[in-house]
Amino acid sequence: MRKSIFVVASIAALALVGPAAAQQPIVVKFSHVVADNTPKGQAAIKFKELAEKYTNGKVKVEVYPNSQLFGDAKEMEAVALGDVQFIAPSLSKFDKFTKQIQVFDLPFLFNDIAAVDRFQAGKQGQALLRSMESKNFLGLAYWHNGMKQISANRPLLKPEDAKGLKFRIQASDILAAQFQGLNATPQKLAFSEVYQALQVGTVDGQENTWSNIFSQKFYEVQKDITESDHGVIDYMVVVNAKWWNGLSKDLQDAMKKAMDEATKVNNDVAGKLNDEAKQKIASSGASKIHQLTPEQRKQWVEAMKPVWAKFESAIGKDLIDAAVASNDTKTN
Ligand code: LMR
Repeated sequence: MRKSIFVVASIAALALVGPAAAQQPIVVKFSHVVADNTPKGQAAIKFKELAEKYTNGKVKVEVYPNSQLFGDAKEMEAVALGDVQFIAPSLSKFDKFTKQIQVFDLPFLFNDIAAVDRFQAGKQGQALLRSMESKNFLGLAYWHNGMKQISANRPLLKPEDAKGLKFRIQASDILAAQFQGLNATPQKLAFSEVYQALQVGTVDGQENTWSNIFSQKFYEVQKDITESDHGVIDYMVVVNAKWWNGLSKDLQDAMKKAMDEATKVNNDVAGKLNDEAKQKIASSGASKIHQLTPEQRKQWVEAMKPVWAKFESAIGKDLIDAAVASNDTKTN
């Protein structure tokens, strides 16, 4: 009797272990360059949790923050090679794949993140998610970070204050032109190298969101930050299109659901995390935060806006017009 109970129990245990052991989860890597305590960092963690839940464990998501696995220079290539499945680069970094997405880099284009959101949700914004399919990149979602602030080791109150300084920029020709227009020197650098470049003085200044300035400690090596809100840093979550299209419909649906909910989490926390980061920088006393008067702001707009005309034909006037229209809350 004892023996037969043992045999029955063993068979039952085998029946449980058998199919589970045969079904190894698909391991999916999500690589990004920022810290966990940022909008993108939090959203990637949320996506992992939900994707594993909605696929009933058929997919296991490994999140690699802080350029741990791949930095700016290599992450797109890694997606193309299938070494990583999900990345969420800043929109500025798609420069070499399509000029259209560069619309987001035009200075003083969007009044605020709500306008960016309206543009992304509209017809043109949604079409951009598929604009790199011929390069095998498929956009699944936009994630917000926030508006950019400009910093250096001197107060930047008028555009002339930037003259002669070297600014780190993301790999975008529009951002290069923006600083050239100020008679400053742009220097393209990977995100992971910015802190050190500021610390040793390879570059004098940079532009970024409050959450990045705080979490990467840029404020410790920049004495002055101007709340300029002159541009936007947002992301597109992209996958290798061939890999994605080869997944079963069930897995795609489950991961899309996880992505939609993670996107909502991202967009709900982005404003709050940036506000908190700004407060922490202000109370650290390490860096002085400067506000622009309306007159000073007008001067920055005048100094940076010529970039629009330079890139209009590459981006497309229709796209620029649609982005401008998204500032109007009445028609959107
Ligand atoms: C940067 O390179 O400055 C940022 O785009 C990094 C990021 O992903 O927010």
